[in-house]
Amino acid sequence: MNKILVTSPLLPPLEDFIPYLEDIWTRKWLTNNGYYHQKLEEALCEYLGIKYLSLFTNGTIPLITALQALHITGEVITTPFSFVATTHSLWWNGIKPVFVDIDPATCNIDPNKIEAAITPQTTAIMPVHVYGNPCDTARIQAIADKYGLKVIYDAAHAFGVTVNGKSVLEAGDMSTLSFHATKVFNTVEGGALVCRDEEMKQRIDYLKNFGFADEITIVAPGINGKMDEIRSAYGLLNLKQTENAIENRRRIARQYRAELQNVEGITCLNDIEGVYHNYAYFPIFVDEEKYGMTRDALYDRMKDNNVLGRRYFYPLISTFADYKGLNSASPENLPVATKIADSVICLPIYSGLSEHEVAQVVNIIKK
Ligand SMILES: Cc1ncc(COP(=O)(O)O)c(C=O)c1O
Repeated sequence: MNKILVTSPLLPPLEDFIPYLEDIWTRKWLTNNGYYHQKLEEALCEYLGIKYLSLFTNGTIPLITALQALHITGEVITTPFSFVATTHSLWWNGIKPVFVDIDPATCNIDPNKIEAAITPQTTAIMPVHVYGNPCDTARIQAIADKYGLKVIYDAAHAFGVTVNGKSVLEAGDMSTLSFHATKVFNTVEGGALVCRDEEMKQRIDYLKNFGFADEITIVAPGINGKMDEIRSAYGLLNLKQTENAIENRRRIARQYRAELQNVEGITCLNDIEGVYHNYAYFPIFVDEEKYGMTRDALYDRMKDNNVLGRRYFYPLISTFADYKGLNSASPENLPVATKIADSVICLPIYSGLSEHEVAQVVNIIKK
């Protein structure tokens, strides 16, 4: 059996990419807000149903830049159940992360536990739409408004997700996206920062270009977060096939759910009413007692059978050396996240995964 990986990148047809490359070669404008960069920003705004988006070179620099743009300091409330970049962005800004436990139904930060973590130093909340499942944005906004806090969503997984027809990226003060090769929409490496108005978009554009407002004026100590023309052109092409790729992912998710529903000790997340999901990941949760095997034993068995799942997100960010000393990082403060991190495996899901391959994965789990 060939190896089945957790994901496989969506690539635009090579023959379609060549004319774009030829055009870039003719233009001789490789980066710094070039033609394709502008085109991709416009196309993404249209596809995602949003107004202001700034392209970045990856999904981590927009997190760091959002914190800079909003002048966030002190403490920020966040989730330990994410990719490390979420918390690292706080550390890079000298901000103390305060971890709050998650809701088992969505794996997102639990709004019921946020208020208890607010202190006079708290300036913002940084939730994550984990696996592309939207957070309870209304509850989070109500808390933010009550305490005068900013909200920055790490929406790295939430490309194209809508709630009652509205983009999830509209929630909060800003949202960030990742276009890493493993994501639903990719530009090889890439990302974006979504904001609410023209003035902020301008500020973000300055910040991602060292703070240059013009040839001789620096408005802030910015960084280099720019996306180049080659990846912008690649993104324009990939965007054309993204909706179809999401449909294929939906088909795979349905098959997994149908075939796994009667497997004792294995549970999946459900779709949420009113949400257009992107099926960025397909997590299952292993109940060791009922399934009769630990999560890690199943993970190893899959690996031995050439199926490479991933334990997203294990270990929890709060267990890493630089964060585990924080009061909020103790497992007693994070019982749900700790349990979920110890039971999760993300199964292979990507546009080109066949029905037969999904059945092979399921058979290994059923054995
Ligand atoms: C939740 C989350 N935030 C941030 C990032 C960072 O994005 P990038 O790898 O594009 O820098 C990722 C993933 O890669 C992620 O999964």
